[in-house]
Amino acid sequence: MTNGAPLDPKYVSLLWAGPEQAAEIARLHAELFSPPWSEDSVRSLLDHPASTAFMAMVGGAPKVCVGFVMAQLAADEAEILSIGVSPAWQRKGLGRRLLDGVARAAQRAEAKKLFLEVAADNDAALELYRRAGFLGTGLRRGYYERPGAQAVDAVTLALRL
Ligand SMILES: CC(C)(COP(=O)(O)OP(=O)(O)OC[C@H]1O[C@@H](n2cnc3c(N)ncnc32)[C@H](O)[C@@H]1OP(=O)(O)O)[C@@H](O)C(=O)NCCC(=O)NCCS
Repeated sequence: MTNGAPLDPKYVSLLWAGPEQAAEIARLHAELFSPPWSEDSVRSLLDHPASTAFMAMVGGAPKVCVGFVMAQLAADEAEILSIGVSPAWQRKGLGRRLLDGVARAAQRAEAKKLFLEVAADNDAALELYRRAGFLGTGLRRGYYERPGAQAVDAVTLALRL
């Protein structure tokens, strides 16, 4: 359960996210990523005129953010900056819904390609992107530094829109 709502994706709605949602997205980002992005840095990303972002919201008043995707448009390309789903809500299709939502928004903004980068050891995300039709475009060696561990390569992927 989250905020009294059953763990059922049919109770989840996707909403556009703007700078006023920075605190909620930063909170969930911190649950999922290390190092987390600060609320201020999330706010400035969402405040950017080219920002396209969605939140997956569940429950009554107040609704709770259980997923997010943040992307940015640049000319005829778009880039996903971050995507995440709350652990209790993973594997219920929300990651795919967020991905499809941002891809559609980018397409409507006349972007031709959607890019992203992902750690080479992030099997869940790699499989999500592969199933959504993303193809590999390159590798950035040692891109993700891990405290006390070996750096991990970044895989760059693109989806033709
Ligand atoms: C990656 C992430 C966003 C996926 O979100 P999700 O809501 O669980 O994904 P979905 O339920 O929409 O999964 C869609 C498909 O992706 C693949 N997939 C998702 N999670 C997977 C996992 N743990 N292992 C293998 N495949 C997985 C499956 O093919 C899945 O379809 P299926 O459930 O019918 O088999 C989520 O695991 C997450 O937030 N991870 C932590 C943050 C992160 O790594 N973000 C990506 C950074 S690039």
